[in-house]
Amino acid sequence: MSEIKNICCIGAGYVGGPTMAVIAAQCPHLKVTVVDINAERIDRWNAEDLDELPIYEPGLKEVVGKARGKNLFFSTEVDRAIDEAEMIFISVNTPTKTYGKGKGQAADLKFIELCARDIARVAREDKIVVEKSTLPVRTASALKEILQNTGKGVHFEVLSNPEFLAEGTAINDLLHADRVLIGGDDTASGKKAKDQLSAIYENWIPKERILQTNVWSSELSKLVANAFLAQRVSSINSISALCEKTDANIGEVARAIGYDSRIGPKFLQASVGFGGSCFQKDILNLVYIARSFGLEEVADYWEQVILINNYQRNRFVDKMITSMYNTVAGKKILLLGWAFKKDTNDTRESAAIYVADALIEERASLVIYDPKVSEKRILQDLDALGTRSPEENRKALTVIQDPVLASEQSHAIAILTEWDEFKTLDWESVYKKMLKPAFVFDGRRILDTEQMEAIGFSCYTIGQ
Ligand code: UDX
Ligand code: UDX
Ligand code: ADP
Repeated sequence: MSEIKNICCIGAGYVGGPTMAVIAAQCPHLKVTVVDINAERIDRWNAEDLDELPIYEPGLKEVVGKARGKNLFFSTEVDRAIDEAEMIFISVNTPTKTYGKGKGQAADLKFIELCARDIARVAREDKIVVEKSTLPVRTASALKEILQNTGKGVHFEVLSNPEFLAEGTAINDLLHADRVLIGGDDTASGKKAKDQLSAIYENWIPKERILQTNVWSSELSKLVANAFLAQRVSSINSISALCEKTDANIGEVARAIGYDSRIGPKFLQASVGFGGSCFQKDILNLVYIARSFGLEEVADYWEQVILINNYQRNRFVDKMITSMYNTVAGKKILLLGWAFKKDTNDTRESAAIYVADALIEERASLVIYDPKVSEKRILQDLDALGTRSPEENRKALTVIQDPVLASEQSHAIAILTEWDEFKTLDWESVYKKMLKPAFVFDGRRILDTEQMEAIGFSCYTIGQ
């Protein structure tokens, strides 16, 4: 394998875009090309106004601004980028299958397979292919099979290099990664390829944080890391239900257990439920893989993490309805937040979607505010559930820009994303505008319940 000078990434999404931008900024000696079949997305990555980038991440526009046009390029010319690159990252979406065998559980690998076929068709020289998307275990071997049967005598080395960045902190996570994981074959060429990828990261990550494993350990570690994180959220959420029935407070419990260095303080924030493109998908995948090997107990164990997450969302909606005298029909309810967490415009699997859908079923009249999510996105998310017609969704909700104004004549407010600006909202004015009793349901535990009650609100905080 020749020296790495050109790398390309297929897929300019939440993972591919920021990751390549950081690699380009840290490695001025490399030419980095990010390609995507979605021309609109590429146009936005190339937008002169850096506020138009297709994804919002703190610090992203600075990094893109620094490297774009110098050694970072965004393009729709997939074939050309593949041809030029010695190393190709695959970072396309791997949604849960919505049809056929494994529907609702297995990952849909058709986008990956298409990439592999593109690479196989175009490549004229040896290449290193790096899987960057979250993939079920053993995808690398499928990739390899497709690549090895091109009949052109080109050698492909397939590596697994899962990405652990979290949205909202992507740039910081990439710059200061806890670890970088590189999986590959233990053959001489496999080891060399792993070292070549490692050398790229060594430009800014300390070498002792770059772990090399076999391909399968690397693929499985990504699923397991997300499953463990999600499990912590479901564990604390399950206890939040118990706290609400007793005099315990989930904040105090989380703090008390988090001091145990074996448990640690992170990821113990009770909430209306986890969302995001990864947690549910990766656990479903783990469950599917376990079942396919006949490991029913293992599958059941992990599936429970998702069941508790669904339970937590439903519980929140039930609490709203019972508090408001068992009916929300015709009542104006203001939802604050739509993104699956703060500091991102990503809404995939956001708890807000499910809460809104359930409230619309109860005939509530919704008013929705999120500082970074567009009306179009909100409507698309609800339409995608297919619970009712798009026309009915449009009748059931209004998306607004000023939450204080919109609280006029409303019965209740629910906080669904922990955006900082909600903490400092002019709650006194909001209270004056609302109908009484004025209900606030804090699904993110960002408000001071005592202060809210002092203003006059009836305040429900998850877990207390
Ligand atoms: C535990 C708690 O650690 C302690 O805080 C509490 O006060 C009492 O219960 P103990 O039961 O003495 O303490 O031992 P611990 O080290 O927690 O181990 C419990 C069991 O888990 C042992 O059988 C141990 O072998 C097993 N274990 C622990 C594992 O199998 N794997 C691990 O990674 C850790
Ligand atoms: C996650 C993993 O953290 C990351 O390593 C992986 O690469 C991709 O999946 P992400 O989904 O972007 O990242 O966000 P994360 O911060 O993990 O939050 C996931 C969800 O859990 C959010 O909805 C968040 O609000 C929720 N959450 C998180 C809680 O409800 N409580 C917590 O304590 C932590
Ligand atoms: P992630 O969160 O994993 O980054 P996204 O959905 O944000 O996922 O991004 C994946 C990107 O991959 C999308 O922009 C999609 O258009 C792109 N993509 C999917 N298949 C291909 C392909 N065969 N060639 C090029 N780009 C692709």
